[in-house]
Amino acid sequence: MYKLIRPLIFKASSDPENMHRAMMGLLHMVGNVKPLSYIERAMFDFTDERLSQNIWGINFKNPVGLAGGFDKQAEALPGFANLGFGFLEIGTITRHAQPGNPRPRIFRLENDHALINRMGFNNEGADAVAARLNSTLLLSRNKVPIGINIGKSKITELNKAAGDYLYSFEKLYEFGDYFVVNVSSPNTPGLRQLQDKSYLTDILSGLNNYRGSQKIRKPVLVKTAVDLALPAIDDLLQVCSDQHIDGLIISNTTLSRDGLITKTNEAGGLSGQPLRKKSTEYIKHVRGRVPGLPIIGVGGIFSAADAYEKIKAGASLIQIYTGLIYEGPGLVKKINQGLVKFLERDGFKDISEAVGVDAW
Ligand SMILES: Cc1cc2nc3c(=O)[nH]c(=O)nc-3n(C[C@H](O)[C@H](O)[C@H](O)COP(=O)(O)O)c2cc1C
Repeated sequence: MYKLIRPLIFKASSDPENMHRAMMGLLHMVGNVKPLSYIERAMFDFTDERLSQNIWGINFKNPVGLAGGFDKQAEALPGFANLGFGFLEIGTITRHAQPGNPRPRIFRLENDHALINRMGFNNEGADAVAARLNSTLLLSRNKVPIGINIGKSKITELNKAAGDYLYSFEKLYEFGDYFVVNVSSPNTPGLRQLQDKSYLTDILSGLNNYRGSQKIRKPVLVKTAVDLALPAIDDLLQVCSDQHIDGLIISNTTLSRDGLITKTNEAGGLSGQPLRKKSTEYIKHVRGRVPGLPIIGVGGIFSAADAYEKIKAGASLIQIYTGLIYEGPGLVKKINQGLVKFLERDGFKDISEAVGVDAW
């Protein structure tokens, strides 16, 4: 159904950000009106015990999550939860409110089933999002685990980045089930340098000190990109191990334009199908190096087969962004139904048995 109307939707919104705003508005509305909420859930929800896992002490009813950047500031969580997601990640949130880059800043590459974006962490800042979460989460009865993705504000210098991350972490700590340190978006100048050993150690040790002082120790993950060369990945893994990091998200968007059909000079991060294979290979590599570290796999997932590929490569959970734009809101259910069929076909009793069977 969505595929039939997709050309109309794409045509009506030549700036994809308008379509995104409309979709967010709709999900916000549906998620907050009880009868509509029931209908949405009845249409999209799917439950099967074989898909559930407990990771970091958190129950995930299925492995399909909303990727960072879609609901940056927690505006439509109940609406997204009703689509059947196993978890939702909000952010990237920065210490300071900031407008992001000038529009247009999202571009569709339809022939490649891809997007390029250079949003630049547009968000209202940690204080405003904390206030919203305070009211939303108390009201939400259809609770799914919430990840909170934090980043550096544009105005903060690199050598002060650790203080920025710590500020947002402290402000948002009570609201998140897990946290993500985003050091891999290509659209904040210098951000990716924070993947270097000394910067990253600084950031993570600050967060560690804080969570050590709290009653509940919440999981902290690092989100990385496939553009890192192999020796740099090993350095990053070493820092993560030294700093007791609980997991990795692989991958953010890429700066590479390899293999694109569409000719484009737009700057920004590429997501969608051209990223799929590379992110799967990167997951296999990391899983081989640190078999016990949970990975959230993301990049070019448009079907159950794509999700299963990431899970077999070593991802315990997966996330979608661009696939949702091209395949529509039914994608979450389609992936979960398809995963159950793959588990049955391959003789796995549950999803955790399939994790990493293809890793190197
Ligand atoms: C428009 C857009 C905005 C994004 N914003 C963020 C963000 O704020 N923080 C983040 O960690 N990732 C962000 N991402 C990256 C996605 O979370 C994901 O890592 C990437 O798009 C690859 O997955 P996909 O191929 O399913 O889209 C963004 C992606 C897109 C397309």
